[in-house]
Amino acid sequence: MSMENPAEPAVEAHEPQPLISSSSSSAAAAAAAQAPASTTTTATSPLPGPIISTPRLILRPLHPLSFPHPYTLAHAETWISMNLTEPYNAFAICEISDPSILIGGIGLRPGSDVSAHTAEVGYWLGEPFTGKGYVTEACQAMTDWTFTERGDTYRKLTARVFSRHKASMRVLEKCGYKEEGVLKEHVRKHVEIWDLHLFGLLKREVGGEQDK
Ligand SMILES: CC(C)(COP(=O)(O)OP(=O)(O)OC[C@H]1O[C@@H](n2cnc3c(N)ncnc32)[C@H](O)[C@@H]1OP(=O)(O)O)[C@@H](O)C(=O)NCCC(=O)NCCS
Repeated sequence: MSMENPAEPAVEAHEPQPLISSSSSSAAAAAAAQAPASTTTTATSPLPGPIISTPRLILRPLHPLSFPHPYTLAHAETWISMNLTEPYNAFAICEISDPSILIGGIGLRPGSDVSAHTAEVGYWLGEPFTGKGYVTEACQAMTDWTFTERGDTYRKLTARVFSRHKASMRVLEKCGYKEEGVLKEHVRKHVEIWDLHLFGLLKREVGGEQDK
């Protein structure tokens, strides 16, 4: 996720992020790892508790003290301040063994107007943690949770992926998302131009609902 937009959904926008260690976080934050989520999170707030749990991961609201280097506390607070009120749309990915260390991020960007029944999923994972199936686990859990807990609002989840990000496409496929189209040479980063792949998953495709 970009630091400019807390719910930055474009999967292609998620770049590797170096991580801070738990020693950068306060002992108080670590000790309070299971504290309830606060709607006024600051650097001195307890670490929010998990919203979603998987066998190996927890997904919890963001907190300034478990943020990737080289972003400063000011950056973190600005980013997080956009996500302090429920419903949370951006989550820290943490290993269940240490909820105080953020190893990645996953979030939703709600659609608007005629697409208000959709949300776009986006994610990133720190390089030391890739290749373990973590993002698939997180994305599957986030997808299931969204349709279960917010299914009255969201009937479709989408994702956009740069053509070079094959692993991200594979993650989405493993989570049941289907490619719906390709926007040719649609994105440019510096001098390189890529296609943009559009993925989607309907609630009725996973929830056993009848076609409408
Ligand atoms: C890309 C990223 C989201 C994947 O997260 P992850 O936890 O490593 O992914 P998973 O282990 O859950 O699954 C990755 C899948 O992609 C596959 N894969 C990895 N590299 C691939 C490639 N170059 N081409 C095709 N498939 C690839 C893996 O084999 C795996 O599929 P499998 O289980 O069928 O073998 C994560 O590595 C990331 O955020 N990296 C940051 C850098 C980056 O690549 N960003 C791109 C935009 S997200």
